Amino acid sequence: MPAVQILENIYWVGAVDWNLRYFHGPTLSAHKGTSYNAYLVMDEKIALFDTVYKPFTEDFISNIKAVVDPAEIDYIIVNHIEPDHSGAFPTMLKLCPKAKIFCTQKAMEGLIKLYNVTADFNIVKSGDELALGKRTIKFLEAPMLHWPDSMFSYLEQDELLISNDAFGQHLASSALFDDQVNEGELMEEAAKYYANILGPFSPLVLKKLEEVQKMHLKIKMIAPSHGVIWRSNPNKIIEAYLKWAKGESQNKAIIVYDTMWESTEKMAKAILRGLASQDVAVRLYKASISDSNDIMTQVWDAKALLVGSSTINNGFLPVLAPFLEEVKALKPRNKIGVAFGSYGWGGGAVKSVAEYLTAGGIKIAAENMQIKWAPSDEELAKCYALGQELGKKIREME
Ligand code: FEO
Repeated sequence: MPAVQILENIYWVGAVDWNLRYFHGPTLSAHKGTSYNAYLVMDEKIALFDTVYKPFTEDFISNIKAVVDPAEIDYIIVNHIEPDHSGAFPTMLKLCPKAKIFCTQKAMEGLIKLYNVTADFNIVKSGDELALGKRTIKFLEAPMLHWPDSMFSYLEQDELLISNDAFGQHLASSALFDDQVNEGELMEEAAKYYANILGPFSPLVLKKLEEVQKMHLKIKMIAPSHGVIWRSNPNKIIEAYLKWAKGESQNKAIIVYDTMWESTEKMAKAILRGLASQDVAVRLYKASISDSNDIMTQVWDAKALLVGSSTINNGFLPVLAPFLEEVKALKPRNKIGVAFGSYGWGGGAVKSVAEYLTAGGIKIAAENMQIKWAPSDEELAKCYALGQELGKKIREME
């Protein structure tokens, strides 16, 4: 996609990665590709905000050249050093010989270690400003949103927040703005991005959003480093972040399970019926055919997470491990849950699953249920009752 003017004398000069399917190595599914957004501001001083992932350097430079000779760039602002945004940084140092670099202390240390470069580094802190001519950049550190080096750049005169990873989405698109794409798809991708990347830092997200609100910054546009730019109503994504960071949820339960000989599956479906009888929306995921990141997105605004497994080698089925590790790491907020499963000769799965749920901050809200061999009708009735019990507790959380 060629350079696009997003505001007067401000250009998107990034790159679209249509073929990305996994991000952060193999850890995060990205079914719809992504973009690496970089922005160029033409003023008395010319400033470039971030670069792109290294394989896209050629597209990126071509986009810059459509606006200006890179040698004319005065400042390179590095909001975040992760290689999807800094991969082209060493090349830019060569093409922009007079450029001064503005970034946080941690970003500078990371860039030097990542790329073994020397440059005219200028360290900035929250509140520092850099005049470009008609406009001024205000810097706002945003540690752990989502790395310690991260920061936002705010262009006061344009009411533009360049937010780097925050407010992003892994969504490749020929369109650049929120009002040009399907709203449901956009919010789903934004929610997935939040749950799987920013989720564990929710207390810090809340704090940062409150800080931004107290600064009374006028925000007409939010330009993140992935996906589309929020211009139609930037407040919509800010409100969504507040909701996700607070762990606000719906009357929804997520059941994740896997099964060796259908016993645990029968339990899962009986529990589902019990939950549904209480007017709770339920989604059922068999781990071996589901995407852990997609499940986590659904978990984020649910009130309950129930996980079931057959026992093998005194533990849960290994296919559940990626999801349970995510629960432990991402710590979805304000959830209740329960572990269930079947066993033959010796148990173990239910205890191990419950330990993971607890480590992920899920409050075990009923007695975990373990059934030997296949569930009898009576035991299936107990599973149904367990669903009902959880369903009532979900309703009490309203
Ligand atoms: Fe998009 Fe943290 O990199």
